Amino acid sequence: MKLGLFGLNGIGISMTKVPEALSGDWSASVRASKVADQVGIEALVPYARWKGYVEEEPEHRSGIALDCYTWAAATGQATTQSAVFTTSHVPTIHPILAAKQCATIDHISGGRLALNVVAGWNRPELEMFGAAMREHDDRYAQAGEWIELLRRLWTEDEAFDHEGSYYRVSKAISLPKPVQHPFPPIMNAGGSDRGREFAAKYADIAFVIVKADDEASIRAEVDAYRKLAREEYGRDIQVWTFSYVVQRPTEKEARDYLHYYAEENGDDRSLEGWMRLQGMNTKLMPPEVMESLRFRFKAGNGGFELVGTPEQITDRIAMLSRAGIDGVLLSWVDYDDGLSRWSDGVAPLLVQAGLRKA
Ligand SMILES: Cc1cc2nc3c(=O)[nH]c(=O)nc-3n(C[C@H](O)[C@H](O)[C@H](O)COP(=O)(O)O)c2cc1C
Repeated sequence: MKLGLFGLNGIGISMTKVPEALSGDWSASVRASKVADQVGIEALVPYARWKGYVEEEPEHRSGIALDCYTWAAATGQATTQSAVFTTSHVPTIHPILAAKQCATIDHISGGRLALNVVAGWNRPELEMFGAAMREHDDRYAQAGEWIELLRRLWTEDEAFDHEGSYYRVSKAISLPKPVQHPFPPIMNAGGSDRGREFAAKYADIAFVIVKADDEASIRAEVDAYRKLAREEYGRDIQVWTFSYVVQRPTEKEARDYLHYYAEENGDDRSLEGWMRLQGMNTKLMPPEVMESLRFRFKAGNGGFELVGTPEQITDRIAMLSRAGIDGVLLSWVDYDDGLSRWSDGVAPLLVQAGLRKA
């Protein structure tokens, strides 16, 4: 089971007002990245966000996020082993600039860059750029043309012209090429059928929000994804998910802390804004499923719950592994505290369970 950290460039993924939560502070981010790098965590994944979820309060803290490309460049310089991701909203950056920045970060990090491509869904943040957000499936059509241009820029030695539905480039070339050959890994987290099709066609890693909590249903979801990639596009993809983690010596202590940060001090304005915008702009899941996951969205953006003792968390990760999940992105309210507990408690148990190497 591969592991990553998610959300270090912003305020983490929990919608909470507790003071120990991340606040977009670079020193906290790089400190956690360095620890993760030292303990063998494979991936550091930021999220791309331009504006928060509370429309009537644009200055709301849900909008705090350091820029992903520059974050990845600096994190790449500060670490030595983990893959460093940048997350890129297709409509906010021209493919020539994206290709060049990715290649640059791949050089800075010694070939450790990966690219998370997102089509965008938060209408107010995209409309800040002065253009209407495209209709849902059209966003993925644009993303397809965008990524094909990146791949050409990363691999072709001669300048080329391109005239497509979304981009026109003239005698385009990008040098130097990325360190990784033919190019850095691509990840996508599209949740809709159209998003999954995009991931199956172009991504090496597909991210899923695991909606079910039992092994058979999770396996069915993962198998369907792999089958789509294999049968439609002849590709083998990894399937990852993400989790919010609360680890304590007893389950009661873990549940109490979850209650403290998500219920007593939960950021309900963020949650309401997020539910509304997601409902309007994505095809992630039917409204009733979305409603049933309300608490999970607040506790950790809809991630798979890892709450309890080290043994309970290990059992849950073992279940994900049996269901075919290749990797999990972890997040905590307080990453310093979470990583330290994880290294002492869960990490050795994962080795004992044969899920990870020492
Ligand atoms: C692990 C994960 C990370 C994501 N990161 C971002 C992000 O950084 N920025 C963003 O706008 N959307 C992000 N998304 C949202 C997806 O890209 C996608 O828009 C969403 O899952 C809805 O699916 P759909 O676009 O196929 O309807 C993320 C989703 C997941 C599951």
